Amino acid sequence: MASEQPLVAVTCTAPVNIAVIKYWGKRDEELILPINSSLSVTLHQDQLKTTTTAALSRDFTEDRIWLNGREEDVGQPRLQACLQEIRRLAREQRSPGSEDQPPLRLSGKVHVASVNNFPTAAGLASSAAGYACLVYALARVYGVESDLSEVARRGSGSACRSLHGGFVEWQMGQRADGKDSVARQVAPESHWPELRVLVLVVSAERKPTGSTAGMRTSMETSALLKFRAEAVVPVHMAEMTRCVKERDFQGFGQLTMKDSNQLHATCLDTFPPICYLNDTSRRIMQLVHRFNAHHGHTKVAYTFDAGPNAVIFTLDDTVAEFVAAVRHCFPPESNGDEFLKGLPLRPAPLSDELKALLGMDPTPGSIKYIIATQVGPGPQIVDDPQAHLLGPDGLPKPAA
Ligand code: DP6
Repeated sequence: MASEQPLVAVTCTAPVNIAVIKYWGKRDEELILPINSSLSVTLHQDQLKTTTTAALSRDFTEDRIWLNGREEDVGQPRLQACLQEIRRLAREQRSPGSEDQPPLRLSGKVHVASVNNFPTAAGLASSAAGYACLVYALARVYGVESDLSEVARRGSGSACRSLHGGFVEWQMGQRADGKDSVARQVAPESHWPELRVLVLVVSAERKPTGSTAGMRTSMETSALLKFRAEAVVPVHMAEMTRCVKERDFQGFGQLTMKDSNQLHATCLDTFPPICYLNDTSRRIMQLVHRFNAHHGHTKVAYTFDAGPNAVIFTLDDTVAEFVAAVRHCFPPESNGDEFLKGLPLRPAPLSDELKALLGMDPTPGSIKYIIATQVGPGPQIVDDPQAHLLGPDGLPKPAA
């Protein structure tokens, strides 16, 4: 069948972000408006990214989406909210008297294909990168130029923070329509080049309660969450912004750990309680505190989201020694070569003194692997047409 008009396709990539001041609780479930502001670090896409192609063609008869090679239901409410918002913005932006009547972007159906460069099974929050990438790619293919925070947020709250690189704050905003609930860059990715991030992928038997359901129950039952949002987070946000701006690792690390611990305290204050941390998570916390005690100051910090994986922040001069400590306490069960992925590290010896101080019986296999990464940029457009995940027929290309 000859096409009236060729397929128009755009491919983009977007990063994962990790909150150091956590978002937990919505004041509006429909618009996804949070009860507190949050602040995150964007991770580098060399190690963790989503790639998405969005394509328009008059030959398409329906909207379709494929995630990691499998076709998914395009009717999912959050997906629909993003799609409708982008189309609304595209219509609003249409210049009066435009010669393109009616432009493909206003009349055509869309096909979307998306893949992650990290295993979904790793239990890493992929929805933020996924929705940021979807919204960014849709905006490009539909020619939308406005701020995308309010669209990405409709997919997943934390996704709006993945629209920027470096250090990003999601301002909760005050308005009922959410127009002022937006993500803004606090500092670019080049601001703190020594900062390193280690994702410790923990083995977990059970799938934890999802964040959406978890925060809804917390909103209904936890008095501590209300106190956190009103009295604690505003102070944490101001202090964290200062720590980032001044590259104060001591302050940054301590506050990151305290804010994570408070999130998990509100989860325990939720009824019935939610426990995202498991024994391995708690042992990692113990390891971090003992490591810092050995050095006499905060050299390493942990944070945990809605699952048992730990994300560690440290500086480049400490990362090799800390990885050696992790390896000592959580030796790989098999395939030791595959234990450390991402940025290459020069192995560092662990002193007998530190080994003795850690004083932990090794538990082989309880950490599956480590991904070493750093702070990275925001979404990117991939110029190479070879990179499109959809072929000229608008269907996913067979995986190479
Ligand atoms: C613990 O953004 O996944 O990771 O808005 O319901 O999709 P929804 O929730 P989501 O929540 C993330 C919660 C968190 C903390 C954070 O990233 O700030």
